[in-house]
Amino acid sequence: MQWLHAQASVNSGIKQEDAFSIDKVNLYDRLGFDTFVKLSTNFYTRVFEDDQTWFRTIFSNSTKEEAIRNQYEFCIQRMGGPPLYGQRRGQPSLIGRHSPYAMTKEAAGRWLYHMEAALDDTHEIDSDSKNRLFKFFKHTAFFLVAGKELTNNHRLVGYGGCKHRVGEA
Ligand code: HEM
Repeated sequence: MQWLHAQASVNSGIKQEDAFSIDKVNLYDRLGFDTFVKLSTNFYTRVFEDDQTWFRTIFSNSTKEEAIRNQYEFCIQRMGGPPLYGQRRGQPSLIGRHSPYAMTKEAAGRWLYHMEAALDDTHEIDSDSKNRLFKFFKHTAFFLVAGKELTNNHRLVGYGGCKHRVGEA
């Protein structure tokens, strides 16, 4: 797990301590439920309307509504709010849940492009919160890419994949 975080830091340029500055404040208390719903809606509206077909089709097995709900429930829980995601979906296990998808550096770049624009469009998010959230997302995106590479190399075989604790990513 530490190797994955180190790899994520190298590829994202975000130090682990900066990625987890989300844990220094309660962003759920600061921003509220509706702001996370709005952020996820802004993000997935962009993703589902992306003119780059290669990226849009990564999401073709999901409905936009379900993807929005999965994401805002995860973010609310991870940012210090009620455990909505865990109650409905169980452990985040993000590496395992992303294993069917093309988790490449290019996909991470496009995901982050849309997320940065969605953060900018969500005017309720102040600049300090935006900074913290974006660093977490950037580090996590490259953490997931590194996890996919490990899985592809079968180095995770033997301990059943990576069980992300809610407190990590
Ligand atoms: C789900 C792709 C990065 C959190 C998904 C889904 C896809 C996907 C295709 C399925 C949509 C759904 O039905 O919910 C990607 C790609 C990424 C990326 C291509 C970048 C390389 C991230 C990051 C986070 C994240 C950075 C969090 C910080 C989630 C969560 C779900 C999800 C919580 C819902 C999982 C579930 O409950 O099934 N992602 N993702 N993803 N993603 Fe990502």
